[in-house]
Amino acid sequence: MPTEQDLNEAYWANRYRQNQTQWDVGAATEPLKAYIDQLTRKDQRILLAGGGNGYEAEYLHQQGFTQVFLLDFAAEPLANFQRRVPDFPREHLLRQDFFSLTPHRFDLVLEQTFFCALPRHRRAQYARQVFDLLVPGGKLAGVLFSEEFEKEGPPFGGTAPEYQSYFEPYFRFSHFAPCYNSIKPRQGRELFIVLERRERMQFLA
Ligand SMILES: C[S@@+](CC[C@H](N)C(=O)[O-])C[C@H]1O[C@@H](n2cnc3c(N)ncnc32)[C@H](O)[C@@H]1O
Repeated sequence: MPTEQDLNEAYWANRYRQNQTQWDVGAATEPLKAYIDQLTRKDQRILLAGGGNGYEAEYLHQQGFTQVFLLDFAAEPLANFQRRVPDFPREHLLRQDFFSLTPHRFDLVLEQTFFCALPRHRRAQYARQVFDLLVPGGKLAGVLFSEEFEKEGPPFGGTAPEYQSYFEPYFRFSHFAPCYNSIKPRQGRELFIVLERRERMQFLA
């Protein structure tokens, strides 16, 4: 099982350098675009965590969203993004470890192939960190794989009940269902989630 060291910044930076980026679809994906298209407040603070080359950040920027932040600990994708979107505010590019991000407060965190890239033992910590980064009532939205994979990850798969156990203490489930508009290779293999941050953590029986 890969450890944190195995999936550190050097590991991911190397994957970008060697063009081993099979997750990268080269554009904002349909489920994320459709979700973004129904957002109305253009000044909400939005975080793309483990956002890689940042196609959704680019899309948001093009649509006039002004408070978009792209975070990744690998330098390569952020440099690629800067070359592609030179007018994106430099201070909104956060090159750091997601788990060390403080004290930002966001209205929305968008998820796509970041959760599945983390070592499995960090999943509960991810849920907690998103809770800490969101304002009360803020949302975590995006896609999660809905199946286990035969090959050792990343990506690491999972199941709806497993995910529920991580997120329930911190979020209300506004939407948590099979994704109907996944990109072709991910069809039938993703959940679309919209989770609303609870006011405070809830201890569940
Ligand atoms: C599978 S890629 C997904 C990139 C992007 N979300 C996409 O859909 O194209 C996972 C990304 O998460 C980044 N990453 C992994 N662990 C991280 C961490 N702890 N903090 C910040 N970035 C991280 C990697 O550098 C990589 O860019």
